[in-house]
Amino acid sequence: CGIVGYIGPKQAQEILLEGLSKLEYRGYDSAGLAVYNGETIGVQKSKGRLSELEARLKSRSLPGNLGIGHTRWATHGKPSDENSHPHVDQEQRFAVVHNGIIENYLELKEELQAKGRVFTSETDTEVIAHLLADLWDGDLVSTVQKVVARLEGAYALGIISEHEPDKMVAVRLASPLIVGVGKGENFIASDIPAILKHTRDIYVVEDGEMAVITRDDVQLMKMDGTPVQRDMLHVDWDVVTAEKGGYDHFMLKEIYEQPKAIRDTMAGRVKDGQVDLSREIGLSEDQINKIERIHIVACGTAYHAGLVGKYVIEDLVRIPVETDIASEYRYRNPIITPNTLVVVISQSGETADTLAALREAKKAGARVLAITNVVGSSVAREADDVIITWAGPEIAVASTKAYTSQLIAIYLLGAYFARIRGTRAENELAHIVTALQQLPEKADQVLSDTTSIQEFAQEIARHEDLFFLGRGLDYAVALEGSLKLKEITYIHSEAYAAGELKHGTLALIEEGVPVISLATQEAIYDKMVSNIIEVKARGARVLGLALEGDQELHKSVDRVFTIPKTLPLLTPVLAVIPLQLIAYYACVSRGYDVDKPRNLAKSVTVE
Ligand code: G6P
Repeated sequence: CGIVGYIGPKQAQEILLEGLSKLEYRGYDSAGLAVYNGETIGVQKSKGRLSELEARLKSRSLPGNLGIGHTRWATHGKPSDENSHPHVDQEQRFAVVHNGIIENYLELKEELQAKGRVFTSETDTEVIAHLLADLWDGDLVSTVQKVVARLEGAYALGIISEHEPDKMVAVRLASPLIVGVGKGENFIASDIPAILKHTRDIYVVEDGEMAVITRDDVQLMKMDGTPVQRDMLHVDWDVVTAEKGGYDHFMLKEIYEQPKAIRDTMAGRVKDGQVDLSREIGLSEDQINKIERIHIVACGTAYHAGLVGKYVIEDLVRIPVETDIASEYRYRNPIITPNTLVVVISQSGETADTLAALREAKKAGARVLAITNVVGSSVAREADDVIITWAGPEIAVASTKAYTSQLIAIYLLGAYFARIRGTRAENELAHIVTALQQLPEKADQVLSDTTSIQEFAQEIARHEDLFFLGRGLDYAVALEGSLKLKEITYIHSEAYAAGELKHGTLALIEEGVPVISLATQEAIYDKMVSNIIEVKARGARVLGLALEGDQELHKSVDRVFTIPKTLPLLTPVLAVIPLQLIAYYACVSRGYDVDKPRNLAKSVTVE
């Protein structure tokens, strides 16, 4: 999660620890350092807070002027001393810190184990250290290039070796990395705050590049060694801005991290155009075939992801799905049979009601599958099967990237079950997989121009009531959009299934009331337009959310915002983004605390 590296005349340990402490705000579960002492590489690491690592360093410090450090947010393997970074090869000649995911690590691990290499952790990262030793050709840079050629996935790496202790090598593929330039000393880091105390001059390492760093020199190159010229950047951000990666708030940063969160959550789970979760979840094909009903149980935003889950799984797998709020489910004596699968969704994995619902379900004999963002969380530990959403730590109370990655986990689960149960043809499933893989780019597109959203947000910021309308999947997304707005702007907002409008809500629509209408579902588009006309006729001011190329909606609404076309089933991933942004900009316009809304907590661990 956090990387820092140092080469120079000073003691690396102090600088690395201080750098890591500046990344603590991002959340982590363990930390570690590797420092070259003039002869060998020493490593200290520990599960838990940085203070625990510091305590260990007090009894055995790591002297030396070259080192790398890491704070870990577990992705593969629970938080533990062994799984903490840095990782080393058997002879401890190489040390590596890593952010991101190595998708093909299991194949590589088997290959290296067959050659007699002994692994001490469950991480994907450890394969990199062993690969470095295995492919060592007498030159660090060319060895790193050979290693990188074997890796599939997204990563940022910091590497040191006792073979060439005059340098550090950093590699970046789709995970942030910078080089900090000092006088007679240089740094690497995943994030600017880690090095801000020492330098404000940085090089941003771009995707597909590596950096070779000595005390006095920084060379940037492509993975094949072609030199890259890059202007040095001078950052004048203060620490607070730097923590947010230059964004004004964590929520906005996290909204913009969604393309990456979506991509990461699919990493390693799609092979040859097919979804394969067999390595992660222990349910056998026979057990999957026998599932008779699915209960999805969660709270808050995760519950809204579960509502999308009902549509998606029923559609793809044809198993009846009920989605329930955890605090209701746990007390309502639900009908659980031996062939009931309970899916709990929780970003934190610590929500008290969700955990209690999980326990109730297990007691009643259900098999429980968890979708969570936190490896080693209570929900992850107690569930029978776990799918981790690789969204990375989410700091803003209002959940954004966790939601979109929960949706991705649901699509993957749906497609996987559909293949095994044969409820969808292979070519249809391949089509879904292709569309899933296009989502990160399409999400980027949604985020690329938000002017019209910002204008609309300013406008609604003056109102005290607002309505969201949608049908089908759009209804599920409307509920989430409405929750976002309530949470951070304190505007009273309600989401309605548009067809239900005339059974009550229509009475609330009067001149000037803002209505956000989602119309992304082609099959029910005309019905939706009729509902929009109904509110328009009562004087509502309507923002319509439609698919790119829509020629109709502008005739019946005041403003249209479009999202790229994708399969109808997948539109929630893109449709929610403008709604998150509306809430965000309306909150900024009202001057409230975006990241810490009143009365709410990120994780509700009491009933
Ligand atoms: C709190 C948070 C929400 C979150 C909900 C469930 O209410 O403020 O953003 O959706 O808890 O949290 P979980 O960690 O279980 O997903």
